[in-house]
Amino acid sequence: MKTLVLVFHPNLSISRVNRRWAEEMENQDNVTLHNVYQAYPDEQIDIATEQQLLEQHDRIVLQFPFYWYSSPSLLKKWEDAVLTYGWAFGSEGDKLQGKELLIATTTGVTNEGYSPGGSAQYTIPELLRPFQATSNLIGTRYLTPYVLYGVPQMSDEELEQSINDYVAYALNPSLEILAVR
Ligand SMILES: Cc1cc2nc3c(=O)[nH]c(=O)nc-3n(C[C@H](O)[C@H](O)[C@H](O)COP(=O)(O)O)c2cc1C
Repeated sequence: MKTLVLVFHPNLSISRVNRRWAEEMENQDNVTLHNVYQAYPDEQIDIATEQQLLEQHDRIVLQFPFYWYSSPSLLKKWEDAVLTYGWAFGSEGDKLQGKELLIATTTGVTNEGYSPGGSAQYTIPELLRPFQATSNLIGTRYLTPYVLYGVPQMSDEELEQSINDYVAYALNPSLEILAVR
């Protein structure tokens, strides 16, 4: 299984978690790490390069810090540009069909905040619904997202542990598909 990890972090130099996750992922066998903000400082996405990368892998991981209850803006721009009609969807758009899609995200807010009555009210799987719906459209298998909550409250030890946990999860060949509810 070949895994493509697309990292969307606008400033990895000040990242506490995503940078460490990306560094560790880069050292794994059968993993291609692609830092999208770094690849396109002017945000002019090379569509052919991105589509080729996607076609060459079986599992696609979208890794990003949670921003405004969603993703950093370049991920949205990347979707708009790369997931084209006739390639990703439409009667002949089958290039991603059957591949696996995993969202891996980190949050500032705690797990409790992402629940009814909490500061954010909604759970992360609920807030990630647009990605799940997109996955349905493009025919990928939407794996249960990986979420690390409450980054500012984490100790350095917990942060170190999260690196191993994330890599083990994201590269586990038999992850469960999230049931559509
Ligand atoms: C512009 C911006 C928006 C953010 N929005 C959210 C948010 O909606 N929910 C949340 O839990 N954390 C939010 N955060 C906190 C980030 O998710 C958190 O700092 C990040 O996951 C930590 O990862 P890093 O150390 O790799 O940067 C936001 C941070 C920034 C800079």
